Amino acid sequence: MAADSDATGELEALERTVMGEIAAAGDEQALEAVRVAALGKKGSVSQKLKTLGAMTPDERRVMGPAINGLKERVGEAIAARRAALHGEAVAARLAAETVDVTLPVRQSPAERGRIHPISQVIDEISAIFGDLGFAIAEGPDIETDHYNFTALNFPVGHPAREMHDTFFFPADATGERKLLRTHTSPVQIRTMEAQEPPIRIVIPGKTYRQDSDATHSPMFHQLEGLVIDRTATVANMKWVLEEFCKAFFEVPQVTMRFRPSFFPFTEPSLEVDIQCDRSRPGEVRFGEGSDWMEILGCGMVHPNVLRFGGLDPDVYQGFAWGMGIDRLAMLKYGMPDLRAFFDADVRWLAHYGFRPLDMPTLFGGLST
Ligand code: DAH
Repeated sequence: MAADSDATGELEALERTVMGEIAAAGDEQALEAVRVAALGKKGSVSQKLKTLGAMTPDERRVMGPAINGLKERVGEAIAARRAALHGEAVAARLAAETVDVTLPVRQSPAERGRIHPISQVIDEISAIFGDLGFAIAEGPDIETDHYNFTALNFPVGHPAREMHDTFFFPADATGERKLLRTHTSPVQIRTMEAQEPPIRIVIPGKTYRQDSDATHSPMFHQLEGLVIDRTATVANMKWVLEEFCKAFFEVPQVTMRFRPSFFPFTEPSLEVDIQCDRSRPGEVRFGEGSDWMEILGCGMVHPNVLRFGGLDPDVYQGFAWGMGIDRLAMLKYGMPDLRAFFDADVRWLAHYGFRPLDMPTLFGGLST
């Protein structure tokens, strides 16, 4: 009898220990460890079951139900605790994974991306000249000496060729040296060769010269204009350029000054300044003030250039102009250093860039 009560006392102690461990298991993994330690092959409760075989029938009659009862209660306690832990885990996940539907929607790439000011200004210029009935023309960046100089009436050996600080390629097998175009004017010739007048085109594009400082970059952008017809006069040119300046700078009036100048491909050649006010630091205003700012070169297309383009100068005449797009962008949007345009710094682009879906239109306002 004494042995029996010892054995039952031991079982009760074991039950308390195992029940304590079950209650203390903090998650399903810890609970599984407790189950294996109690009910697994070598578990503490399983070991007790194995002792039944060595007992006398009398002992077994008492201890059998006691040990089996313990096994059953431990099994039930583990199942109950598992269900509770599972419920807690689900509740914790639900609490942690809530979605705050009032948070702002994450920006899509189309909203985060920015249009480079040069692209924006080219779009603005295209919208203005498109409205005036001009088409856009383009030509190659790698040009021949013929299109870049000769056909534009630069005589061979003329110093104006050197003034352009040209990037030349090494001579090819025929001895010809290609070059990076120093201006967009070669596209004048290419257009005359390709289409019959009347011609009304603007040519935006990249141009190259060996030059680099705060206002010069070895790669920069120009906008060329060309009008050719049976009659095309300086008066027509003046009107077109004036309309362009008003639309581009978004002012009701501009005052322009035409000064005589020299370009081999125009005769007469003119340089155009626009009146501006630079009295406020870091700010330029157009249409007022007492300063002048040079913005473009222009003139009547030289008869030799028409001939090189395959046109008869006794039938056709025309006018042309060229201006720096980068400089126009700097003036309009107040960027002080040209080099930053081509640094590919996303912080600069985030600050000065334009939203991709804000296409410049005349009816919507160019820069709004
Ligand atoms: N091609 C000239 C340059 O790069 C700019 C220019 C001046 C173009 C007068 C023209 C023009 O078409 O008529 O400096």
